Amino acid sequence: MIQIAPSFLSANFAHLEREIQMLNDSEADLLHFDVMDGSFVPNISFGFPVMASLQNVVRKPMDVHMMVVQPERWIERVASYGARIMTVHQEACHNLHRTVQQIHEAGMQAGVAINPGTPVMMLEEVICDIDMVLIMTVNPGFGGQTFIPSMLDKVRRLKSMISQTGSKALIECDGGVNLETGAQLKEAGADILVAGHTIFRSDDPIETIHALKAL
Ligand code: DX5
Ligand code: ZN
Repeated sequence: MIQIAPSFLSANFAHLEREIQMLNDSEADLLHFDVMDGSFVPNISFGFPVMASLQNVVRKPMDVHMMVVQPERWIERVASYGARIMTVHQEACHNLHRTVQQIHEAGMQAGVAINPGTPVMMLEEVICDIDMVLIMTVNPGFGGQTFIPSMLDKVRRLKSMISQTGSKALIECDGGVNLETGAQLKEAGADILVAGHTIFRSDDPIETIHALKAL
């Protein structure tokens, strides 16, 4: 069954208690937490104090998506908040293989994200060492953008790289996921769907998570 990771970026920060309660009551598998530095992407979101506050109140494992330059600086810090998965961008790492090793040494699962303009082939040398690949299905930086349809074929190509190499990596797709694009992504081989606006801007977020889960 597909895993669903609501993106905290689209939560209503004026009503956090309500949003956290909703997440805890829902069938969500993970909490997707987008960290942005205004340098790797043209936006700034939130960071460690927020992660620390969520650590003991959200009963879903944290899936931390680092949209920052030199993410290796923050591995120990992210681990200290109990994150299950730390995902770094291939484009942001000078020593990707070492960074993946360090994430594992810190006790977390390692994810590697690629932007829409980065080919799947850039993952060839690490695909057997990582736990997850995050395919950006929009350009990173903002919630609520439109899904890029050509990413479906990219997911299919990644899926075949994973089966040919015997890698255990799961495929997470992030950006513009709704019931329609989510179904297409599942069919293409996605294991985890991130969804922000589709969940948090819907009339009944718990029901929307249920519908995504049932795709
Ligand atoms: C964008 C973030 C996404 C974002 C997705 O850079 O990585 O996680 O929150 O939001 P939606 O689902 O609204 O496109
Ligand atoms: Zn994300």
